Amino acid sequence: MIIFGASGDLTKRKLMPALYSLYRDKRLPEGFAVLGIGRTEYSDETYHDYILNELEHFVAPDGDDGKEGEGMKGFCTHLHYLSMDPAIADGYAVLDKRLQEITGEDNPENLLFYLATPPSLYGVIPLHLKTAGLNREGTRIIVEKPFGYNLQSAEELNKVYASVFEEHQIYRIDHFLGKETAQNILAFRFANGIFEPLWNRNYIDYVEVTAVENLGIEQRGGFYNGTGALRDMVQNHLIQLVALTAMEPPAVFTADSFRNEVVKVYESLKPLTEEDLNEHVVRGQYTASGSKKGYREEQNIPAGSRTETYIAMKIGIDNWRWSGVPFYIRTGKQMPTKVTEIVVHFRQIPHQMFHYSGEYRPRANRLILRLQPNEGIVLNFGMKVPGPGFDVKQVMMDFSYNTLGGLSAGDAYARLIEDCIQGDPTLFTRSDAVEASWRFFDPVLDYWKEHPEAPLCGYPAGTWGPLESEAMMHEHGADWTNPCKNLTNTDQYCEL
Ligand code: BG6
Repeated sequence: MIIFGASGDLTKRKLMPALYSLYRDKRLPEGFAVLGIGRTEYSDETYHDYILNELEHFVAPDGDDGKEGEGMKGFCTHLHYLSMDPAIADGYAVLDKRLQEITGEDNPENLLFYLATPPSLYGVIPLHLKTAGLNREGTRIIVEKPFGYNLQSAEELNKVYASVFEEHQIYRIDHFLGKETAQNILAFRFANGIFEPLWNRNYIDYVEVTAVENLGIEQRGGFYNGTGALRDMVQNHLIQLVALTAMEPPAVFTADSFRNEVVKVYESLKPLTEEDLNEHVVRGQYTASGSKKGYREEQNIPAGSRTETYIAMKIGIDNWRWSGVPFYIRTGKQMPTKVTEIVVHFRQIPHQMFHYSGEYRPRANRLILRLQPNEGIVLNFGMKVPGPGFDVKQVMMDFSYNTLGGLSAGDAYARLIEDCIQGDPTLFTRSDAVEASWRFFDPVLDYWKEHPEAPLCGYPAGTWGPLESEAMMHEHGADWTNPCKNLTNTDQYCEL
């Protein structure tokens, strides 16, 4: 496996811990080798030391017998490093030679390239690989998101990849699909008989999809400022979750039948009108609050940056099952907590025969699929309060993954890397899906470009985002489902 971007953030936080967990679980082939490529100068030895140190930070202790450290050292002996600038063609002959040395083969084929670089290199590296003759039949390539900056660049990128590799060699990764809890949406919907009959416009009023975080942009200012929340989270992660929630059941669970259904959802997304762009897309940026910096004070962020760190949208799916059911989606940095969940709101009952009094209110049923943290599923419904009268209160029936022994910290990346090694592309994004998703979101990017004055709403770091997004929900007569107390302080909201 050859990792481009081996001295970067993703490699230390996600890729190496994932590879280490596969190694520890004896899921990697015995003779595996990882060649890290980056511009930072390391020798093999200093790279081992660097990764060993980072693994100690990023691998959750598994409470075993303290042999973790030894395992990590053993793992690091499989690592190699080559310092080169992947943008420059000259280095690739050296790379080829290095691969021959490591594998002991003249033309090694069993290669997996991983692009964990800035997105600006996604189009360059494959072309250099081709020139160097490294796009061999048995090779595969994993590309990080965002795949393109918009529809046009994604189409161009797809063409570049198609000129170097066959589609079955290309793995566009979206790590949300590697999460157990995301995959479980399929099991929940399609391995049970009782939910699916209700899973449509006749019984569902609206759906919320939330993926928010309580961190800012950390050290990723350079990347983030040119990317923003829409490209970083919405065009890929959030819309994947919408697809899992909304898709039709594939007849068989194979890569193509599953991915065909995903594409059908994207193609049914109701194109955004001018009115939607004005009123049903809320973009925000966090401002300083307490000890927390505002986005514009973060490292490598220009003073007047208008990059969005929050976005909420109301979207629709124009098909038989979902016509008229809004999906409210949102993501944001510097929110009060980290949570990813899907909340399915069922319709109110058609007629209310009980008289509610005191603290109790009639409420429609709600199903919460919690992807992280406290992974689980909650169903809300009304029950009679014991005692006189007929008061009905909301109760929760909940399932926690902990009851299944919890989820291994092994995480999404390990699952996806292993799938790629085994040649299973099911949980990776196909070229037509990437394009269909961009086709839907492009108008938002164009609108912001053509209307630089379009509101960018400030929200104090540590709150639930702009008030405008609350207002969007109020139009539906609802509030966002926030898993902890709302920290609203109206004075601090402003337009930027
Ligand atoms: C990444 C984004 O794809 O997903 C990050 O680039 C974000 O900005 C991250 O923090 C969230 O992933 P997870 O798995 O921690 O929810």
